[in-house]
Amino acid sequence: MFERPRGTNDWGPEDMTKRRFVESRFIQRAESFGFREVSTPTFESLDLFTAKSGPAIVRELYAFKDQGGRDLALRPEFTTSILRFYASSLRSLPKPLKVYMTGNAFRYEEPQKGRYREFHQLNAEILGGAPLSSDAEVLALAIETMRAIGLKQVKARIGHLGILRSFLPFKPADQAILLHALDKRNLEMLDAELARLGQKDLSAPLGELIQLSGDVSVLKEAEKVLGRAGKEGFGYLRDLAGLLAAYGISASDFAFDMGVVRGLDYYTGMVFEIDSPNLGAEKQVGGGGAYDLAEIFGGEPIAQTGFALGLDRLAMAAEAEGTIEPSRPLDAYIVPIGDAARTKAVQILTSLREAGFGVDIDLVGRGPSKNLDYANAIGARYAVLLGERELKAGHATVREMATGVQREIALADLADSLLG
Ligand code: HAM
Repeated sequence: MFERPRGTNDWGPEDMTKRRFVESRFIQRAESFGFREVSTPTFESLDLFTAKSGPAIVRELYAFKDQGGRDLALRPEFTTSILRFYASSLRSLPKPLKVYMTGNAFRYEEPQKGRYREFHQLNAEILGGAPLSSDAEVLALAIETMRAIGLKQVKARIGHLGILRSFLPFKPADQAILLHALDKRNLEMLDAELARLGQKDLSAPLGELIQLSGDVSVLKEAEKVLGRAGKEGFGYLRDLAGLLAAYGISASDFAFDMGVVRGLDYYTGMVFEIDSPNLGAEKQVGGGGAYDLAEIFGGEPIAQTGFALGLDRLAMAAEAEGTIEPSRPLDAYIVPIGDAARTKAVQILTSLREAGFGVDIDLVGRGPSKNLDYANAIGARYAVLLGERELKAGHATVREMATGVQREIALADLADSLLG
């Protein structure tokens, strides 16, 4: 017996129903917002991921050498790949470019419930729009996707990395260390780093700032803490709240939270995270914000913003909140009775499938009663029994599985009888 690798999952038919339910809701919403699908390779050059984040990121990647000695890595997310693709090939498309992508991603993490080494994301990006309108549009899509999945217990926490960065007057590498400490809520590390940089007095206001969370009024409190730093950012967040209201997003769907820092290094402006509280430790179902990557890959500076939702976690949240709709049941299961009936049964099967019905047929040669048990077990709505004598008379026996009611139906009327 072989075991699957640590941190990976198998998905059985029931699990896939849940996953496809969530994924299809995202795709429907994204397309209704005018996003179009793209796809990039599952592995990329390792350099792509170290270009912005530095070599330390390699510890979190599935990095390897191929047989030609090239350094490669499985994608840990899609944004970096999409921006590489944009800078190399998509720049001539009309802007703003709105794209979405779904698929698997890989991170070398310590696995636990909701945190895997292979997981799935639903991702959307807007490249080259005006920052405020684009940020509002991606937030609206993220929140509306939650609604479309039927999740009630969700809240987007919105922060602004530009505000935090303007309060940390250090070179980017030092800023990154401080932001990492803030992201991990590691106040000890924050203190030590600020002491190293000779700015220990920033520790108290920063500690205070990251505790602030609530409605628009929180922005006033945060402004008081920061003094002159981040003025523009606060105005921006107020305007964003106004736009979100225009999208019909209720004030209870989001909060401002100055402690949202994000784990990835490329964010520059508005950032957000979405939690589903009933998931326990790994409750963050999504995150995103405005970032700068196009320039690193040789593109011109444009506004870039987007988000990714964690499909594995969303499927768990949807299950916990009981929102998953069952997949469409099989319309009919055909039971040929006797070998001579099989050829005609296959012809009927094919014509029903061509007419758009979901139809299965006995592949084992079981007797009628065992076949009815099977039809029941696979959830078919009708069983269609085809015996030689009935076929000669141009009839089938159609049994409604839920009620057990059986009717003789002329073959010409079979398709209509399945519509009921
Ligand atoms: P992220 O916050 O790293 O952002 O990941 C987004 C979501 O993917 C998380 O909120 C979580 O639900 C899910 N996720 C991440 N790691 C795991 C894991 N190991 N196991 C299960 N689920 C996981 C990004 O990836 C950015 N690229 C989002 C973005 C797009 N920003 C701008 N554009």
